[in-house]
Amino acid sequence: MSSPQPPDTSSASRASSPPVLGDPHAIPDTAFPADGTPADQLQFLLHYAALAPSVLNTQPWRFAIERNLVRLYADRTRQLRHLDPDGRELTVSCGAALLNLRVAARHFHRGTEAHPVPVADEPDLLAVLMLHGTAAPTEADEQLFHAIIQRRTNRHPFAEGPVPKKVLDDLERVAREEASRLIVLTGAAEKDAVARLVEEGIRLQGNDPRIAAELDAWLRPPGDPRRDGVSDDVQGAWDRRAQVRTPTSSVAVGKRELVTQAPAVLVLTTDTDGPADWLAAGQALGRVLLASAARDLQASYVNQVVEVAALRRELIGLIGGGFPQVVFRVGFPARHEGTPRRHMQDVLIHDPEAADPPRDNG
Ligand SMILES: Cc1cc2nc3c(=O)[nH]c(=O)nc-3n(C[C@H](O)[C@H](O)[C@H](O)COP(=O)(O)O)c2cc1C
Repeated sequence: MSSPQPPDTSSASRASSPPVLGDPHAIPDTAFPADGTPADQLQFLLHYAALAPSVLNTQPWRFAIERNLVRLYADRTRQLRHLDPDGRELTVSCGAALLNLRVAARHFHRGTEAHPVPVADEPDLLAVLMLHGTAAPTEADEQLFHAIIQRRTNRHPFAEGPVPKKVLDDLERVAREEASRLIVLTGAAEKDAVARLVEEGIRLQGNDPRIAAELDAWLRPPGDPRRDGVSDDVQGAWDRRAQVRTPTSSVAVGKRELVTQAPAVLVLTTDTDGPADWLAAGQALGRVLLASAARDLQASYVNQVVEVAALRRELIGLIGGGFPQVVFRVGFPARHEGTPRRHMQDVLIHDPEAADPPRDNG
């Protein structure tokens, strides 16, 4: 990949449209500032980036726009230090946001060049994306764009019946487009084996007080107004009658059943296991999820298997190699769910100098 070109200044003097900043779920695509500056357009497009999935809905990203260029930063204040000590899932989440941004730019006929940034340079700066020329979206691109709004994690049981093989083959192909591999498990024995690891992972994490505290900090009881984290209700972990959180041991058994019964369990892997792989895996995850949503499928994650190192090793044995990054089940939804997003003004950095806060996580 070539290095980023200097920002395009040719259109910097154009009249700019009023900046659009708001709730990403509520942004109408008709508000795209087609005659605005590249910076106005990027600001608008970031609403789609913010609709990406992220681990525990931490939304661990920040963006700094400079003319036709946007820098994607990891927001380490939102990193799960115990669950995700290396920032792997944080980076995967940011990769999914980057993919949404690329897909959205294409929909509005804007070409992009995206470059991962080597970690040694600036650890929190993950990627740079430039608006560059024009693009002609295909029908498949358009389907992905419209799926950005539709896509939701759905932790309920899926409708019975298989996902067609052709669809699963398509998802495998889509993952390869982003330098990753999707392993599809549909056999009862292989799904059972993963389900057993999931149950063990949830129990182990539940018994670790530091991880339990971290999960607690991001789970939201019913009625909590915060626009990040995951509500206990959506998580399927709230006893409505007793008004208490479901104990971990019950959650573990429930998740095991969900995985066993899923039409398909998918493991997204990479050949190596560094930050650039995590960013690629995030873009692959984003693309696979949008392609799934475009076919009315929904996904639900069981990433404990990747988070607990010993279980990840067992999983590698089960799937025959590669580095698992995300494990999820897919199926046709029987019931719909959703999580909120923070407003755009909370994730935009106006002074790029202030984007690199002191780190204490090594
Ligand atoms: C890398 C990654 C790991 C995730 N792991 C889990 C998980 O283990 N369990 C779970 O229920 N959801 C998991 N999620 C899903 C997020 O909780 C979900 O994306 C977030 O709450 C936003 O909701 P939405 O996907 O409906 O927009 C994960 C998402 C990502 C990107």
